Amino acid sequence: MDYKVESLRCEYRKNPIGLDVKRPRISWKISSNYRGVVQVAYQIQVAVNDRNLSSVFWDSGKVESDQSVHILYKGPDLSSRTRYYYRVRVWCNDSKVSEWSDVNFWEMGFLDKSEWLGSWITGEFFPKSTNIDSCLMLRKTFTFNKKVRKARLYASALGLYEIHLNGQRIGDWLFTPGWTSYNKRLQYQTYDVTELLNNEVNAIGAHIGNGWYKGNLAFQDQRNIYGQELALLCQLHIIFEDGTEDIVVTDEHWKVATGPVLMSEIYHGETYDARLEREGWTQSDYLDTDWAGVKVIDHSKDVLIAQENMPTRVIEELKPASIIRTPSGETVLDIGQNMVGWIHFKVNGVRGKKITLQHAEVLDKEGNFYVGNLRAAKQTINYVLKGGGEEEYEPYFSFYGFRYVKIEGWPGEFDLNDFTAKVIHSDNQITGTFVCSDHMINQLQQNIVWSQKGNFLDVPTDCPQRDERLGWTGDAHVFMRTASFNMNTALFFTKWLRDLKADQLPNGGVPHVIPHVLRDEDHSSSAWGDAAVIGPWTLYVCYGDKRILEEQYESMKDWIEYIRNQGENEYLWNTGFHFGDWLGLDAKEDSYEGATPKDLIATAFYAYSTHLLGEVARLLNYNGDAEKYVLLHHNILDHFRNEFTTSNGSLIANTQTAHVLALMFDLLQIEDRPKVADALANLIIENNIHLTTGFVGTPYICHVLSRFGYSDLAYKLVFQKDYPSWLYSINKGATTIWEHWDGIKEDGSFWSDDMNSFNHYAYGAVGDWLYRSVAGIDTTISQPGYKHINISPSFEKELSWVKASYESMYGTIRSEWKKLSKGMEISLAIPPNTKATVILKGISNREIIERDDSVIIDMEGLLDWNFDEGNITLQLGSGEYNFII
Ligand code: BGC
Repeated sequence: MDYKVESLRCEYRKNPIGLDVKRPRISWKISSNYRGVVQVAYQIQVAVNDRNLSSVFWDSGKVESDQSVHILYKGPDLSSRTRYYYRVRVWCNDSKVSEWSDVNFWEMGFLDKSEWLGSWITGEFFPKSTNIDSCLMLRKTFTFNKKVRKARLYASALGLYEIHLNGQRIGDWLFTPGWTSYNKRLQYQTYDVTELLNNEVNAIGAHIGNGWYKGNLAFQDQRNIYGQELALLCQLHIIFEDGTEDIVVTDEHWKVATGPVLMSEIYHGETYDARLEREGWTQSDYLDTDWAGVKVIDHSKDVLIAQENMPTRVIEELKPASIIRTPSGETVLDIGQNMVGWIHFKVNGVRGKKITLQHAEVLDKEGNFYVGNLRAAKQTINYVLKGGGEEEYEPYFSFYGFRYVKIEGWPGEFDLNDFTAKVIHSDNQITGTFVCSDHMINQLQQNIVWSQKGNFLDVPTDCPQRDERLGWTGDAHVFMRTASFNMNTALFFTKWLRDLKADQLPNGGVPHVIPHVLRDEDHSSSAWGDAAVIGPWTLYVCYGDKRILEEQYESMKDWIEYIRNQGENEYLWNTGFHFGDWLGLDAKEDSYEGATPKDLIATAFYAYSTHLLGEVARLLNYNGDAEKYVLLHHNILDHFRNEFTTSNGSLIANTQTAHVLALMFDLLQIEDRPKVADALANLIIENNIHLTTGFVGTPYICHVLSRFGYSDLAYKLVFQKDYPSWLYSINKGATTIWEHWDGIKEDGSFWSDDMNSFNHYAYGAVGDWLYRSVAGIDTTISQPGYKHINISPSFEKELSWVKASYESMYGTIRSEWKKLSKGMEISLAIPPNTKATVILKGISNREIIERDDSVIIDMEGLLDWNFDEGNITLQLGSGEYNFII
């Protein structure tokens, strides 16, 4: 047997710098061409600042274990700003030892807040409480004349920053320092700037804009939510060849000015006057005599934390598809894809000429540019040319949700080559692919991915275009499982859940949006606040990450206790405000809230979250709590049944969502479940095979149907093409998931102006069903993170083939099936150090042969098999398999 240790990761990252995790975890993948590979032992070696590992700082020794993800570093305490090189080797089931892996590293940031020597600085001239919109420019020069061995810059801001050294932008990260609950947790970023320093005079300069910190945020027209002053904090450590060190920090010696960015706002866009550019302002020879002195302000440095998630970047570039002249005479660029980011343009014209770019998602019925659904968000760029040749521009601190761009004032002819659409989002690794024989389903999958890209900009948002763009908890948790197939979301959601915990109210309530920026909110909603429990649980299931459960445990408990304290009856949640089955189609006229009783929804989620908490308590060995929450769960179930089912076990609420929740969360007596599933199927059939569900029921409806034997009906729902259905929007030209089933109605008119996003991932939660049911890729809860994989595809008549893959922490899982004129071809990949249970349903033929014609029971890697009532169950070790049934 031959195998290699590859893809080393520390805290999910390859060679991260600036970590502040005191006990980081290491993961690796094993690659092998052999089947049935299982790790039986591993060894990790770590060295300090020593790429060759000639002197080992920590050696785990040979540890007998099949664990290859999240191995805790157990060596001596780590030191700030130090690089740790590490390598791994493993023994697998043939007892041979692998070669050592390549050497990887992680580098620590600051482990002690007292290491922050810099001060927060802002512009002295900058009035405190006004809405002055100009971005600040801050700069400083510094000198040295020794040879640099390495240099690191640590930076953060109150507001958003972009930083330059000697005329070059540092890194390609956008929207730094990211969005967190700023007054409790504020990220800093670490940059390797060794190559950017000059030997002698150097200049550093930063731009700061309002961003989420101080700009207009949330639909309640708020500003200055986190504070009134923009500020910068940075610290540059330069280590010279001779071992000495210089530290350049933000202090009273910096200078400040304003420049061309006259306004930059997340929602509203940017006003940029190129005539005010300060050319060379981040170079050392720039003359800054007209710049003002800065003011040092008092702001906590205790809230600083290292960057926790993957940065936001420009991830792809699109060329606009066409230029349209609308019936009302507007000139509009069509990108061909609803997206999030901005337009980079090149322009040539006279000094002082003003051009305007406004961004929108859709054209109206007549084909005119439509901005009604943006509400107060202006999404507009006003650019004033400096003249004298070609100039280029793209915005600094604002982003736009758009497919169409209306352009006014453009000098001269349009050339599509002058425009590039830049797609930005958190740089989460793409981990999933799903394609099948139906092009509309493939478009649906694409739309889900595009809505994920557009709404994963540092925090999971409801929408990316109108004056909202907030971390709505309900939307986030229903989409999490789907999202975690498409991309690796472990760090993205870990950061967000830590903000959830930080923003949790003293009574355990969970704000509707995280980070918490809505005013006057003293109540929490069921199904939204449950993100506190379902969120960490989902990460545990997808990544086998137990630390997130430990970290969030108190937050989960506080949420359950919050619910328990609502109303008179501790086993029901039948009081207070709830969003209900938001946007359900069975809602009354003029209401957003579906017909399913809110008490039922609230109690259903209460039961489910309590059940999960009991599981978590058991996993973490909090045995007293485990018992307590198991008992609480039983009591809630009793009360749920008393309150919401009839004496024969049917549900009192005749809505699809009520049935879906009761079945999804196992709230009914086992013997009543088939009957209720049948009732759900009837409700759907009576409705001409269409759904009526909203945000709460939709994510689960197909799972419930598939699980209870109605896979054919689930397929029919998903393949439905007329309103309301997923594919309806595709027939209407959607390239992202809509907030409303009827965002654009049959007659081409819009649902309404006030809440009609065309880029809302919530209904995209059906993607999870495509992966888990149609392709059939799932993990076993008892061995989460795909340590033990379940593969159980469902073959229905609508599809003739499916190809799906998922890049797990162990390696690539692949599930492909294809109907042949006689029989079926199945192709699977099970990564080393995992096993899989493969269930092929509805197969009566017992003859399975491998591609090379050997009968399956002789197949290498097959651990066990069973034919039972038309189902074939195979237990497989790792490897690639291709067989014909
Ligand atoms: C958001 C939703 C959110 C909802 C709360 C809306 O404005 O866009 O997606 O969950 O409010 O009901």
